[in-house]
Amino acid sequence: MISAGLEPWADHARPIEEATTLPASWYTSPLTPAREQARVFGRSWQLVGHVGQVAQPGQYFTGTLPPWRYVVARGDDGKLRAFHNVCRHHAAAVAGGCGQGDEWVCPYHGWTYDTRGRLRKAPRVKGIKDFRAAEWGLRPIALDTWGPFVFLWMGDGSGRSSSSSSSSSGGVSSSAPPPLEEWLGSAGERMSALGLAEPMVHVAQRTYELRCNWKVFCDNYLDGGYHVPIAHPGLAAQLDLGGYRSELHPRLSLQTCDPGASADGRVGGGRPAGYFFLYPNIMVNRYGPWMDTNVVVPADSRSPDRCRVRFDWWLQADALERLLAGGGGVQQQGREGEGGRSGDDGGGAVEVEEAVAGIEFTHSGAAVLPFVRESLASSHQVQVEDIGLCEAVQLGLEEPAYGVGRYAPSLEQPMFHFHQLLHQAIVGAGDSNVDSSSSRFSFSSKKV
Ligand code: FES
Ligand SMILES: [Fe+2]
Repeated sequence: MISAGLEPWADHARPIEEATTLPASWYTSPLTPAREQARVFGRSWQLVGHVGQVAQPGQYFTGTLPPWRYVVARGDDGKLRAFHNVCRHHAAAVAGGCGQGDEWVCPYHGWTYDTRGRLRKAPRVKGIKDFRAAEWGLRPIALDTWGPFVFLWMGDGSGRSSSSSSSSSGGVSSSAPPPLEEWLGSAGERMSALGLAEPMVHVAQRTYELRCNWKVFCDNYLDGGYHVPIAHPGLAAQLDLGGYRSELHPRLSLQTCDPGASADGRVGGGRPAGYFFLYPNIMVNRYGPWMDTNVVVPADSRSPDRCRVRFDWWLQADALERLLAGGGGVQQQGREGEGGRSGDDGGGAVEVEEAVAGIEFTHSGAAVLPFVRESLASSHQVQVEDIGLCEAVQLGLEEPAYGVGRYAPSLEQPMFHFHQLLHQAIVGAGDSNVDSSSSRFSFSSKKV
């Protein structure tokens, strides 16, 4: 079966050595966002935040994954729930930003909901008939957590026309999703083993707007380190790229690389650098004491050439404690007198203070630590380099002379795997050779 209007990709079932890439039109066609919304983003567990944002009863945060708007809240009963942030009266957003309280008062006409999503007040509706407030609470979204992360399953929107409403259970708005643990499968074990559930402290966040399709950003992440020595000289100098390894799980690809002999405190620290890609759009990087999550989503539900990426940076709790105490434990970056620049390639490096200016610190103590500021500047520098690449690729994909490309078989298996999963989701299982129950596939590259 071919999804109506989308260019077929017959090579999804061929060996990578013979396959051409996902057609350029999948990145440029105005037909793709709606299909991806229904079959990719609506049918996957989406990372939207972390439990530290909603630690106390009444705490909440809001967000968007176009076309969905959501609010995640811890109720007065201590239970974590999520709702569509859409007033049941005339569809205004009920909650904004983040905060803590007992209720949300819709800014339009004042309908008021508690943090369990129940409609508490509908002012001036005298004369309304066949109206039971219990049926007009905020619509729930399925929520689950893994380690510090909060995931939502948006669903397919079925039941939209129904007047049946939220329960107080924080349940599912349409068909029930698979439990998160089941969805993660072997990915969860690997994520635990490589330190993603260790005690970490959230330090900072930033959202980047990119002029490219969201999949271009994913592809950039999934080329097995192919572009690193060329596009990220500062980072490449700190990694032993000759030992770059990749392994595939049903919905996870994992790339690891040992730090090089001259790695600084951000990248070094005895553990391999780990790049986790959780289908369809979640990236988690683990370097030394650092972890950062990058979640890429379409900027809106109509434009295939715009996306945004939210970065969240975390530090290992014990490392942060030592830094705050003024002790060692993490090698400081830069030598005395050399501070103030990130990266060590000397070419196009970004001033630390300029780089961190757009970053929002969520930990005031960490915000003043030179190690933290320099690490974030280095991370930002890599992101700036990737944005340039991704935006140039989008222009190339829109160029009529380009249709499909080829894969570097020993490196780009993670990218091929991503494209196969997408194809399977959008077009259907068909004869795809993506076996979601397949055991782990592992390979390594000796040269990059
Ligand atoms: S739209 Fe919310 S009260 Fe009218
Ligand atoms: Fe990159």
